[in-house]
Amino acid sequence: MYDLTSLPADFAWGVATAAYQIEGAVKEDGRSPSIWDTFSHTPGKIDGDDTGDVACDHYHRWPEDIALMKELGVDSYRFSIAWPRVVPGGDGPVNPDGLAFYDRLVDGLLEAGITPYPTLYHWDLPQVLQDRGGWASRETAEHFAAYASHVAAALGDRVTEWATLNEPLCSAWIGHLEGKMAPGLTDIAVAVPASYHLLLGHGLATQAIRANAPHARVGIVNNLGYAEPASDSEADVAAARRADGHTIRWWLDPVHGRGFPADMVEVYGVDLPERPGDLETIAAPLDWLGLNYYFPTTIADDPAGPPPFIREVQHPGVRRTAMDWEIRDEGLETLLMRLTEDYGAQRIHVTENGSAWPDVVGPDGEVDDPERVRYLEEHLAACARAVRRGAPLAGYFAWSLLDNFEWAYGYDKRFGLVYVDYETQQRIIKGSGRRYGDLIRAHRRNGERAA
Ligand code: FCB
Repeated sequence: MYDLTSLPADFAWGVATAAYQIEGAVKEDGRSPSIWDTFSHTPGKIDGDDTGDVACDHYHRWPEDIALMKELGVDSYRFSIAWPRVVPGGDGPVNPDGLAFYDRLVDGLLEAGITPYPTLYHWDLPQVLQDRGGWASRETAEHFAAYASHVAAALGDRVTEWATLNEPLCSAWIGHLEGKMAPGLTDIAVAVPASYHLLLGHGLATQAIRANAPHARVGIVNNLGYAEPASDSEADVAAARRADGHTIRWWLDPVHGRGFPADMVEVYGVDLPERPGDLETIAAPLDWLGLNYYFPTTIADDPAGPPPFIREVQHPGVRRTAMDWEIRDEGLETLLMRLTEDYGAQRIHVTENGSAWPDVVGPDGEVDDPERVRYLEEHLAACARAVRRGAPLAGYFAWSLLDNFEWAYGYDKRFGLVYVDYETQQRIIKGSGRRYGDLIRAHRRNGERAA
């Protein structure tokens, strides 16, 4: 029994995806390569050497995918817009054919009664800009704002809910420090300026969206790495505090006008490329905060590792998904309260939450996924608890609508509420998709106990 009655009556019930993970059609209608095309085509970077070349072929099958959303019963859709489709040169002229795809998609969603929530950057930087320094270069932030203004001018008459960046933490730290995501670098002296310019780009893009789409409500999407110390030792407690700085405060403090955390600037040992006025730009007022939540981490000190000198420790006996991620819904509640109490959030969306499992199509043609159902129910219940404690939660977007290209893990890790057969591109709504639809309909019908 899961009590979802505290979720507001106008709660946004959504699903989420990202361009490179589902669209395919990487060479069509003038799209240029992104850093993920380069990375995925570099041997050894992706499990099974998978690429996003075809993915879910959503670029051609989007009407079918909107029909699936309708069948599920969701009223909101978070997707990302591919910069290399819209401005293939990174800066410079707009590609009308690329923009037209999102124009059609937005119209299709609105016709289906589904509110579009586009994200302007979900990691697919045009490769041409990487060749000129990528996010480590200030110009990339400026080009991002120019691209944002083109998109906002074209779609702003119909789109009101906008997100600038998806998980800049992953772009900066996993892409430039750990090297496990594009562009695959491992250099703190590049990662820190990249993190700075990502946030600067966010601030500039926020201004650009508002200038071109006066009714816009703008947010940023973060995955906050809720960290617990592995032991009571002073070293582990300090390490968990560094992890908190690395994955939460570094990303939220500047956006909330608090500047970059001084303790972390010291830990990284890299000067910020700051210019007068930047901090004000980064702190441009927002209408909502997006939280992507998957799992909490347990952190130990690692003096020999790269900054911030931390290492993740596994708890024995905790349930884990196919990603080997711990399943602990209380982490979601804790982070929603942190946004509410420490950062004074006025409006929050859970912009991603979900789990991967080794799904198979049964002899009856159905995909039965009880673990994903349980994960979904437990995390929605955590949302409802946070709302009872005062969190201004306005929506929940399940990751993901479809099984898709799970970055460095390729197609092997399935997160969808809908199964994708990659040979035939056939879609099958999983048990979890049906359950999600039931929960949504029950909540809408009664606003009562939905289970
Ligand atoms: C998040 C990403 C999303 C997806 C999920 C599983 O970090 O934003 O694209 O890969 O993880």
